[in-house]
Amino acid sequence: MLVNGTPTRTVWMTDGVVHMIDQPRLPHAFEVCQLQHHTQTANAISTMVVRGAGAIGATGAFGMAQAALEAPDNGFHQYIQEAANTLSNTRPTAQNLFYGIRSVLRAIESEADDTARARLAAVDAAHAVADDDAACCKAIGEHGAALIPHAANVSTHCNAGWLAFVDWGSALSPIYVAHRAGNPVHVYVDETRPRSQGARLTAWELASEGVAHSIIADNAAGHLMQRGEIDMVIVGSDRIAANGDVANKIGTYSSAVVAHRHGIPFYVAAPTTTIDPDCPTGMDIPIEERNGEEVSHTWGWSDEGSFIRVRTTPVVSPTRNPAFDVTPAELVKGIITETGIVQANPRGISSVARN
Ligand code: MRU
Repeated sequence: MLVNGTPTRTVWMTDGVVHMIDQPRLPHAFEVCQLQHHTQTANAISTMVVRGAGAIGATGAFGMAQAALEAPDNGFHQYIQEAANTLSNTRPTAQNLFYGIRSVLRAIESEADDTARARLAAVDAAHAVADDDAACCKAIGEHGAALIPHAANVSTHCNAGWLAFVDWGSALSPIYVAHRAGNPVHVYVDETRPRSQGARLTAWELASEGVAHSIIADNAAGHLMQRGEIDMVIVGSDRIAANGDVANKIGTYSSAVVAHRHGIPFYVAAPTTTIDPDCPTGMDIPIEERNGEEVSHTWGWSDEGSFIRVRTTPVVSPTRNPAFDVTPAELVKGIITETGIVQANPRGISSVARN
């Protein structure tokens, strides 16, 4: 997608250096970080410099490629295994992260007897994960755009745009394709507390692309649905279970329940790399619990022109901060994948699952 007219990806790698957009600085500053070592790349995932299922999947793959380039000839495979553990332990919910790491591990294992070839295979595999992610998201846009009525009001939660992937995004990709085809779609952007990925990132993306949108407080979505002001919901996913249950950013479940109450179609857009066939139901998906300071504090741009962090809660009040929730399959109208729209049930999921 374009940033100030320049085609830009969320994360990429050149000569063993991982480059990524520094997402906590958006929308106030556009900066790109450069990470030289796989441990720095892992840290960028856990601190959410890069976030979103597809983006951390590609980043995990690039981190593994960095590890393959760093590893000594003597002890090569032990170094690789330790790097895989480090990268896997950054965030627990998004299946794409584990898919990205495993893809590079497999490429290394296919050249297990020759470390020089294994290093090259790792780099190629990491680039393939990133390119596949971008291609899948573009295809999701083409399949999903046909679902969006003319001049529809579409609601979305969190950021499932190109910042959450390598390019295009999942939930926002159909909106971009529809908009570019002349559909004057309008998007209601849930703010998405506590980290406000909707207000900060989705709004920035939509504004950059010229898509009409309004940011709403999370608790306004039900009211707008009740008044008939939202025609459909499209969200992304971090992990899809074999039965079609869907994990996504905390608050997605509430949106799905209210949409169901009002007969509003609720779609999930995700590449098939988000499917976890080894997870029987959504209740088996590990849900990340993050630091409570994300609830008690917020950060932003002061009128004086600097980033500041402020507390909004009583110092004595404890917090809970589950980062994801599970929407049961029965509330999902369809899953928009790169191969087309499938039903959120075991048959639909197994028809497109990769492994
Ligand atoms: O905690 P985040 O910002 O990584 O969570 C991202 C989301 O929940 C997105 O909606 C999700 O990744 C689906 S789109 C990649």
